[in-house]
Amino acid sequence: MRYVRRAMSDPTSTLDASLAEIDARFAAEFAACSDEQALRAAHAKILGRSGALTAALKEMGKLPADARKAAGQRVNALKQKVEAAFEERLQAIARAARDAELNATPFDLTLPGRVPAPRGHLHPISLVREDIFEVFKGLGFAVAHGPQVELEDYNFTKLGFPPDHPAMDMHDTFWVSPPPQAPDARVLLRTHTSNVQVREMLTNKPPLAVVSVGPCYRCDEDMTHTPMFHQMEGFMVDEHVSMAHLKGVLTAFVERLFGKRQVRFRPSYFPFVEPGVEVDMGCTFCDGAGCRVCKGTGFVEILGAGMIHPVVFEHCGIDPERYTGFAFGTGIERPAMLKYGIPDLRLMFENDVRFLAQF
Ligand code: PHE
Repeated sequence: MRYVRRAMSDPTSTLDASLAEIDARFAAEFAACSDEQALRAAHAKILGRSGALTAALKEMGKLPADARKAAGQRVNALKQKVEAAFEERLQAIARAARDAELNATPFDLTLPGRVPAPRGHLHPISLVREDIFEVFKGLGFAVAHGPQVELEDYNFTKLGFPPDHPAMDMHDTFWVSPPPQAPDARVLLRTHTSNVQVREMLTNKPPLAVVSVGPCYRCDEDMTHTPMFHQMEGFMVDEHVSMAHLKGVLTAFVERLFGKRQVRFRPSYFPFVEPGVEVDMGCTFCDGAGCRVCKGTGFVEILGAGMIHPVVFEHCGIDPERYTGFAFGTGIERPAMLKYGIPDLRLMFENDVRFLAQF
C-alpha cells in the first residue's frame, strides 16, 4: 500500500489530509507485520527518509507562518502516536518469538555435535612419563611426587653434598627467597628429583621401591639443556639389595622402554651413591654402528645410578648396617628425544602445534 501525496491548492488542508491518511492506516499496517523486519519496513514507509510523515513535515514549510505552529503540533502528535505503536508492536513481536521458542520442541543440548571436537593428546614428555611409570609399576615400584620448590637440606645436604659443592653455585641453581615465616631457610628450585629419595626415606620404612618423575630446574640453556627439564628418580631399599639388583632392574627398564639392546655400566661419581655408575645403551639411531647422535661410540648415556651412600641413610634415619639400596635418575627429555627422534630439546617446550601434532 502506498501513501499518496495529494495536490491540493490549500497547503493546510493538503497537510491535514496526509496526516489523516497516515493516522487511519498505520495501526492496521503495524498489526499486519508478523516479524521485526516487516515492522521496521512499515515504520520506514512512514518515518523513514522518504516516509509519508517525513514528507508531510517537509510540506510544513509551505504553510503560512501563522498556521505553522498548530500544524507542527499536529504532526508531532501523530509522530509520537506512530512511534508508540511501533514500539508496542516491536515488543509484541519479540514476546511472540520468545514464546514460540519456549513452546517449541526443546533443543537437546546433550546431543553430540555434527563435527567432532578436535581432541588433543598427551605431550611427548607426559607420554614418556606414563611409559616409565608403566614399566616400574610392572616391576613393583610405587609412584611418588616431590615439591619443585625445595629446601637446600633435602635437595643437597641430606644427600651428602659438601657445602662447597659446585652444583650449589648460583650459576647452576635457582635460589628462591625464603618465606617470611622462615627467613633463614635456604630455598631453591630442585635441581634434581633426588629430593624424593630423601622425603620418602624420612617418612617411610624399608622395604621401599619408589619411582618419581617431575620438573627440575638449572641455570642452563642450549641445544640439549633448558632451564626447566624433567627427571625421573627411582630407588629401592631393603636388606641385601645389591648392585646385581640395580643392573637387573635398569636393564629391564631399558629393554621395556626401548626394546632389546645392549646396556653397559661405567663407573661414575654422584655424592649420594657409592659406588656410582653411568648407564649407557646401544644408540637407537644407528643401532650401535656409530653416528652423530652417539658421537661415533655406538652408545648413548641414559642414566646415573649407584648404591645409596650410607651417609644418606644416616641422614634419613635408616640403619646403614642393616639396609642397602640402589638409586637411579635421569632427565626424561633425552629418552623422549631418542624414542621419538627429536633433534632439538627446546622443541619440547615451545608449544608449537606443528611439532606436538606429530606424536
Ligand atoms: N640426581 C642425579 C642427577 O641429577 C641422577 C642420579 C640419581 C644419580 C640417582 C644417581 C642416583 O644427575
